[in-house]
Amino acid sequence: MQTKQDARIKIAVQKSGRLTEHSMELLVRCGLSYSRGKDRLICYGENMPVDVLLVRDDDIPGLVQENICDLGIAGLNIIEERRLELIERGETKLFEQVSVLDFGQCRLSFGVPEDMPFDGPESLRGTRIATTYPRIVKDYLQRNGIEAKVVEFSGAVEIAPSLGKADLVCDLVSSGETLRAHQMYEALTILESRAALIRTPVEIPPEKAQWMKRLLMRIEGVLQVRESKYIMLHAPRARLKEITALLPGSEAPTIMPLEGRDDKVAVHAVCRENVFWETLEKLKEAGASSMLVLPVEKMLA
Ligand code: PRP
Ligand code: ZN
Repeated sequence: MQTKQDARIKIAVQKSGRLTEHSMELLVRCGLSYSRGKDRLICYGENMPVDVLLVRDDDIPGLVQENICDLGIAGLNIIEERRLELIERGETKLFEQVSVLDFGQCRLSFGVPEDMPFDGPESLRGTRIATTYPRIVKDYLQRNGIEAKVVEFSGAVEIAPSLGKADLVCDLVSSGETLRAHQMYEALTILESRAALIRTPVEIPPEKAQWMKRLLMRIEGVLQVRESKYIMLHAPRARLKEITALLPGSEAPTIMPLEGRDDKVAVHAVCRENVFWETLEKLKEAGASSMLVLPVEKMLA
């Protein structure tokens, strides 16, 4: 028999780090309000059967793959490393990637000491590379036909060269501050990372399925809204075609007459991509005026 507890969706989220705040914010934007458990490691959903487990980011893909959590939010770097590990172990049931999210951008790059020249992948030949991502690095070296020694670290990779334990590192870089603080520079990126949503390989039981569907739809909705803008402008009738073609990612815009003006119309459109200053400048050149760009609050197709 299923207890009530089993009907709750469990999401694994990074306990503290670059993804924590954005991950919780995404769930709140999906309508979740929660209270934090005494141990502060579980957030209990109050208005949705959804609980958030706050865990180490490295553990997230495993928790999802073993179906302890139904969903997880982790960086593509960690997801890819675990994916390679599971394949290596001969696992056939992996977690599934549902969508790539719009936060947590960073890069997995080779960081090289300032006094070491770097001239492309060939410079890696015969070196010792310290990393917490041994499988991604080995995979990269293999694909490029380069022999080098990968030294696996569990953290604090950036001190490996000064300790003499490696010649260079392969680590996450965001601002580049960590590399600079250790007299290294970013030489080559091998993976562009950001947060992604993964789900269990196991079929969602019927008592959870409906909320799961709703939650995934809301997440898609939030992502779409964030990059959508509502744009309003006046356009000369004669250049309407040119102007509507400039609106990024918009389907059928609404065209309305302007009182007392035969030469101009009002154009309203939802743009499913960000509207940049460059776009507005081009629109202006094409004759558009009175332009307004508004954020979209909610969207449901
Ligand atoms: C990464 C990486 C560096 C830092 C780089 O660690 O290991 O320490 O971020 O960022 P910067 O270029 O802005 O200085 P992260 O915070 O992801 O922690 P973790 O690897 O221990 O999870
Ligand atoms: Zn980590």
